[in-house]
Amino acid sequence: MARPVAEWVNVTDDISIIARESGEVWFHNRSGEKGDIDPFAAPMGGVGSPGSTVGLLDGAINLAFSNIEKRLARPEPTVAGYIVALVGAYHTSVDTPRNLRRAASRFEKLGRPEVAAYLEERAREETGHDRLALKDLRALGVPGERLVANFIPEGIKPLCNRFDELCAEDYPIGSIGYSYCLERIAALKEKSDIETVQALCPDGVDTTRFLRSHSSLGSEASHVAETIEFVASLPASDRIKVVQETYQSALIMAEGYNHELLKSEPQIRAEIEQALGEAAPYLHVPGPSAGQKHYAAATAD
Ligand SMILES: [Fe+2]
Ligand SMILES: [Fe+2]
Repeated sequence: MARPVAEWVNVTDDISIIARESGEVWFHNRSGEKGDIDPFAAPMGGVGSPGSTVGLLDGAINLAFSNIEKRLARPEPTVAGYIVALVGAYHTSVDTPRNLRRAASRFEKLGRPEVAAYLEERAREETGHDRLALKDLRALGVPGERLVANFIPEGIKPLCNRFDELCAEDYPIGSIGYSYCLERIAALKEKSDIETVQALCPDGVDTTRFLRSHSSLGSEASHVAETIEFVASLPASDRIKVVQETYQSALIMAEGYNHELLKSEPQIRAEIEQALGEAAPYLHVPGPSAGQKHYAAATAD
């Protein structure tokens, strides 16, 4: 009988994530261990399995978000906050197909056609997602093109830069970790999150195209499942890099989202109106009463 798969990756100077095929995951602190007796000090070298690979990937995201757990902003959802989330969604989507194709052509040159094919497929699937965010903005009465041309939310910029850099690397395998991080978090959104947003918006107007498609109701869930299968099939050295980048991207994402969510409502409105160069009366719709479910930014790849 084949031995069950165990995988591990060192994501910080002293923390390793260890995951078993059965789905069990540990965070192992190496600081108290001597290198010669710690079996996880050396990089893993075996094969992957979907059960252990997803444990490492999701463990990396959880570990990164645990850093800001105590500082996590939970503002009441408002139209202005949703507009900024859509602008963020636009910016994290608009260059995705081009970036993924760039990484794909690099893997083609490196003699890794299977990675190139995976990235090409992802580029096809992500094409047009920026248009969904623009349509939602238009449905809200916002001149979307003008707004996105003049405004990248500060907390979103580092994420966009990270993906640009990863896809331009000589060995751009980290781009898969970044994409996984964004898609996995988007896929956590449920029907009730979408209903919360729709309830803020004028009746009879569809303002959640992007959000639906980047949620558990849309294509994100299958993108996540496909990525887990694919990453599990990669050599150990690639899986290590993908998990490490998932962790780094999640750190950037956690800080960036929180930066945006900590802004006050007047600050958010001022940023939008400054970018538009005019008053935006549609921003002054009161939000739902306290206690309604918090809406996390709609950003995704
Ligand atoms: Fe996706
Ligand atoms: Fe997308």
